[in-house]
Order: sequence, then C-alpha cells, then structure tokens
Amino acid sequence: MAENFVLKGNICYSQDSRALICVEQGYLVCTDGISAGVYKELPQMYAGFPLTDYGDRLIVPGLTDLHLHAPQYSFRGLGMDLELLEWLNTRTFPEEAKYSDMEYAKRAYTIFAENMKHSATTRACIFATMHREATELLMDLMEETGLKTMVGKVNMDRNSPDILVEETEESLRETRQWLADIKGRYRNTVPILTPRFIPTCTDTLMEELKKLQMEYELPVQSHLSENKGEIDWVKELCPWSEFYGDAYDHFGMFGNGVKTIMAHCVWPPEKEIQRMKENGVYVAHCPQSNTNLSSGIAPVRTYLEQGIHTGLGTDVAGGAGESVFRAMADAIQVSKLRWRLVDETLKPLTAEEAFYLGTKGGGGFFGKAGSFEEGYELDALVLNDESLKHPQPLSLKERLERFIYISDERHIDAKYVAGSKIF
Ligand code: GUN
Ligand code: FE
Repeated sequence: MAENFVLKGNICYSQDSRALICVEQGYLVCTDGISAGVYKELPQMYAGFPLTDYGDRLIVPGLTDLHLHAPQYSFRGLGMDLELLEWLNTRTFPEEAKYSDMEYAKRAYTIFAENMKHSATTRACIFATMHREATELLMDLMEETGLKTMVGKVNMDRNSPDILVEETEESLRETRQWLADIKGRYRNTVPILTPRFIPTCTDTLMEELKKLQMEYELPVQSHLSENKGEIDWVKELCPWSEFYGDAYDHFGMFGNGVKTIMAHCVWPPEKEIQRMKENGVYVAHCPQSNTNLSSGIAPVRTYLEQGIHTGLGTDVAGGAGESVFRAMADAIQVSKLRWRLVDETLKPLTAEEAFYLGTKGGGGFFGKAGSFEEGYELDALVLNDESLKHPQPLSLKERLERFIYISDERHIDAKYVAGSKIF
C-alpha cells in the first residue's frame, strides 16, 4: 500500500510545456500515493513522515510511454530497412503470429515486463496481439511490475495474413471473453480497446467494437496518418470518409467523450487537426519510429500551439527501445530537421518541452499523472548522474538535459509508482 513519506533531493517537474520547476534540495511530500507538493522547507505538519534523503540526486516524475507494442519487443533493432506496410507484412505480422504459442509468449513477455520494470517508464499504453490468452498473460506480468498500464488485445479481421487474422465474429467473441476474464483481476492494469488500424478492421468489426466500448466504457488506442501509402489506402477502403481520422470518428472511436490515443499523426490534413482538437484526442508522437520506418516528421509544434493533448511513444519495435528519455531527445532532433527542411515557421522543441511531453503531456491520459503538483499521483524516478562525470558544476536544468541525451536505466536508482516503491 502507498504510504505517507517525504523524498528529499534535487526536484524537477513540469508545470506546463514551457515552465520547468527546479527546486534544489527540496522536499517532495507523498500522502496516500498522491503528491502533497514540493517545498523548499518541509512544512511542520509533515515533519513526522519518514524521510528518504537522496542527497545530490535528481528526483523527476515517472515517464509515460503512450504507445508501444509488447510482442514486437523481441525484434527491436532488427529489420529497419522497410516502410510501414511492407514492414508490417514481412517483419511484424510473422513475429506477432508466434504469440498463439503460450510458451513463446511467456518467454518473450517475461523479458519485456522485466525490462519495462527497470526502465524510466511508470505508465504505458500497450498493444498486445490478437491472441486472447497471450494478452491475459501479458496483463498478469505487467500487473506484477507495479507499473500502471493500459493493455489491449488487438483486433484485426481483414488485410492480414492467414497466420494473423480473425473472423469478425471470432474477434468480437474473443474480445468479450478477454474483458470477462480480466474483470476485477488487477489493480494496476486496465484494458484498452485496440482496433489495430482502419486497414485491418472491417466496418462491421468497428461498429460492433463501438458497442463494447460503450458497454465497458473503454478507452481506445489505434494508429493514425502514419504513412502516405497507408493514408491513400484508407481513402480507398472508406471512400465516404473526409480524412483518415474521420473514419475512426464515424465509428465513435475518436475522442469526443471516448478517451482516445492516436499514434503517429505524421501527415494530418488541417481538418484532421481541428477534429483532434475538438474531440480531445491524444496524440502519441513516436519520433524514432517515424524515422526508422521513413514515415516522416509529425508537426508537434503545431499540436502544442493548438493545445492538442500530446505525449511521447516509443512504438517498439518501430522504435528500437523502450526509453522515453531517448524519445525526448529524438523528438527534439526530428523537430530541428522539420524546422530546417520542411517549415521554418515551426520552431524546434526545447528540452523543457520534450520533458513535458514525456511526463505531464502523456501522463494526462492517466488522469493526474506526470507532475509533482499537488494532487498528482506520485510517480517518481531518482536519477543518479555521478557516473556521468562533468568537469564543472552544472545547474539542475543542465543535469536534466544531460539525462535526456545520455542516461539509460543504469542511472535510475529508485522508482515509485502512485506512491509505491518499485525498486
Ligand atoms: N500500423 C498498424 N500496425 C502497426 C504497427 O504494429 N506499428 C506501427 N508503427 N504502425 C502500425
Ligand atoms: Fe504502433
């Protein structure tokens, strides 16, 4: 159970995309898993709480990965020579098909869960595969990590190979069974409806999934406007749609009261941006995946300026690893290329903005998460940069910037999720 306690150290967190708060030798107070705020002097009323002094280390909010594929973790860093649709057919679908075998699923998902536990991620929205049993196993394993995750059994009933496709009826029956099986089973893990993307889901499947969405009040995750060939294909499959996102909206799975994450959003027409904004859709920006699959560079500056909810995704295995710090650096870097090569009116992201996206920006999908402001669920990382020696003293903001670029999981000394210590 979450307790009452105080963490002391050098504390950094985002208030908004531009305001990074840094408090040297501050006190972060936790009451019942919730932040009671950050203080320069410890208020008397908390003086009796047990205090852990992390010395010169940095304490930052846990990171949120808004989009990744657990079954693809097994081929991360492999086969990056293709664009999306070919990559799905030749690399991804054959690998995901293996998760019909529970022995394989157990081996692969155990590695995934263990590495996620020791990563900087405290919250994640995860695609499993279409296989119900393996999805339930993944949820069991994620539950044990203590991380807060949303996990989806994938739905796909067309334009998929024989080894990885469902009949429409089967897809619905298995999804129902999955929801029934896991009901009440977890504290940290919740289901999220996961139609893979429009090209692999028939209209009938989408209509019926909407009924399940309403019945269980489920959030939704999918892919949107990632690749130009994909977008043209959606236009052919849904000639009635105004734009790609309109197809999801037509089926009632595009925000507007339904908590929705759309991954990528690299090539949004103006109308799609407006609809995402009106409907409150979350964008999962996955810069490394968009580079590896030559998809393009998403207009993240526009999303921030428009006030569209935006966070970061690793999109493993489109992205080669699970580090959200790395995703922050990637987001900054691709935004510079976009600025230089595509649109000089859209300024590159700053380190503060990238840090915001990976913490409070994506954390918003989980409610009050990703910041240390009072009332936020207390997810924290204790970062140790002693081994990243520097010849001069650095400010907290400089040290944080270095973590974004050069740290890895070996530099995380402790991790807390909703007030519970994970390690
Ligand atoms: N679109 C549909 N499925 C996938 C997937 O597995 N990865 C990525 N990057 N895009 C997709
Ligand atoms: Fe993806």
